[in-house]
Amino acid sequence: MVTTKADAVPRVGGRTVEEIRSDFPALARIIERDGKSNVVAYLDNAATSQKPRSVLDAMAAYYERSNANVHRALYTMGEESTALYEESRRAVQRFVNAARPTEIIYTSGTTAGINLVAHSWGRAFLSEGDEILLTEMEHHSNLVPWQLLAKEKGCRLRFIPFGESGELELDRLETLWSDRIKLVSIVHGSNVLGTVNDVKRIVDFAHERGAVALVDGAQSVPHEPVDVQALDCDFLAFSGHKMLGPTGIGILYGKERLLESMPPFLAGGEMIEAVWLDHATWNSLPYKFEAGTPPIAETVGLGAAVDYLGKLGMAAIRDYERELSAYALPRLKAVPGLKVYGEAKRRGGVFSFNVDGVHPHDLAQYLDGEGICVRSGHHCAHPIMRKLDVAATARASLYFYNLPAEIDRLVGALERAKEFFG
Ligand code: ALA
Repeated sequence: MVTTKADAVPRVGGRTVEEIRSDFPALARIIERDGKSNVVAYLDNAATSQKPRSVLDAMAAYYERSNANVHRALYTMGEESTALYEESRRAVQRFVNAARPTEIIYTSGTTAGINLVAHSWGRAFLSEGDEILLTEMEHHSNLVPWQLLAKEKGCRLRFIPFGESGELELDRLETLWSDRIKLVSIVHGSNVLGTVNDVKRIVDFAHERGAVALVDGAQSVPHEPVDVQALDCDFLAFSGHKMLGPTGIGILYGKERLLESMPPFLAGGEMIEAVWLDHATWNSLPYKFEAGTPPIAETVGLGAAVDYLGKLGMAAIRDYERELSAYALPRLKAVPGLKVYGEAKRRGGVFSFNVDGVHPHDLAQYLDGEGICVRSGHHCAHPIMRKLDVAATARASLYFYNLPAEIDRLVGALERAKEFFG
């Protein structure tokens, strides 16, 4: 337990968190600001995670030894590069338990994955009058692509609402349902409210009614075991940089049957089979969706990231983060004048909050003066801000390398904020 015993040593998967932290060079960073010097307390993990040495080393080794384009070169370095690229794909396949590597498409991130589905599957299979079911707690990446598609095709968007606690009102699914709904696209973990949605229930509900189900896993895949076969989702999109990997690489998982039926999205390079001046035929999966030279070093980094996570164990990561969140929530709520948004029973380590009379941007800069990194703003989720009736919030978000002592630093600084801002 990390919770209350001052002498308890926090552990994840058999390693102490202190030992784990030594794998992450950026966690030793000293922040010099306002004449003060503090070791960083990095609490902006929903925006991006820090990277372990093994990821940085894998990428450097790739560039230093094996840098060459993939699936094109017949020389040793090209063969090595291609082998690394495909090994990473298999590592990701095992990580989310996909049935085959051809179901793992490299993208630039969650946003690109969802846009791929909207452009390819959506344009091919939705028609005027069809409907798409989302939730009111989507971030813009799982909302705006569907708005554009709906406008183009004459489709309608429907939304599962969330209530006061930040939980989806799933009892209303039956009454919200229409037999024109062809696609359900839902967020697994909210980047604002911290809610972890019962996506299995929604996926099953959609399938029983013949709809396709996409899960936005940007905030869940880094934090808990996600098994695409157990979940039975048709698509799962997630980002490498929120799970120890580099920026610019993400994954779209899709069931083979669906990916086979879809036309290409981006065209050029690796996605062709044969090209004539007036037409072309497409490569097999997954290459049909991987046009152009891919971000090769980034796939190598992502492979090293999932190896790191796999060694610790995603169940151990989830359990530790639950304990750390249970430690943080009551302490944050006890800060005078502080309001936390989102109190779902199933929640992850994402805490959006405001302190009476202090603008969240000012709060974030004040906390930076204490070496504490939090995000402030609308968190790419304007509709949630509107529903909460706030312009913006501050947000602290945890990962498995965070310590109870960092929560204590945040809470201590927040307790002093009112006095600081007068
Ligand atoms: N969607 C990311 C966040 O919540 C960028 O910060």
